[in-house]
Amino acid sequence: MAWQVRERAYAPYSRFQVGAVVVGKGGEVFAGCNVENLSYGLTNCAERVAVGAAVAAGVREIVTVVVVADTATPISPCGACRQVLAEFGEPEIWLVNRESRISFRLSELLPRASAGILESPP
Ligand code: THU
Repeated sequence: MAWQVRERAYAPYSRFQVGAVVVGKGGEVFAGCNVENLSYGLTNCAERVAVGAAVAAGVREIVTVVVVADTATPISPCGACRQVLAEFGEPEIWLVNRESRISFRLSELLPRASAGILESPP
């Protein structure tokens, strides 16, 4: 599914296509691709697009994330996406390329993300 949605990436500026899938606590799956903009800083990464789809469908607890790209080494979510993911759980994150896959917990990629503030949300 992540490879499929990657085909829909809107990446005319970087030409770098990324696909992501997030899985909710109940097994719901949501896909996202990167969506670039001519004002480069407005680009949305595939991960955040997938998170948005989950939240729009009412799913707020994410247990698994898959990120795919056609690179020699599997890519890893950017800092902004790690922070956004931390809002909705502590998922296992699979980094996948054509040949291999490796997984990390979000807490390994972004230690202490929820310390303090997210422990007592409004
Ligand atoms: N990108 C993602 O969508 N996810 C990542 O994990 C890394 C980077 C996108 C942003 C931009 O459209 C392109 O890849 C190049 O950085």
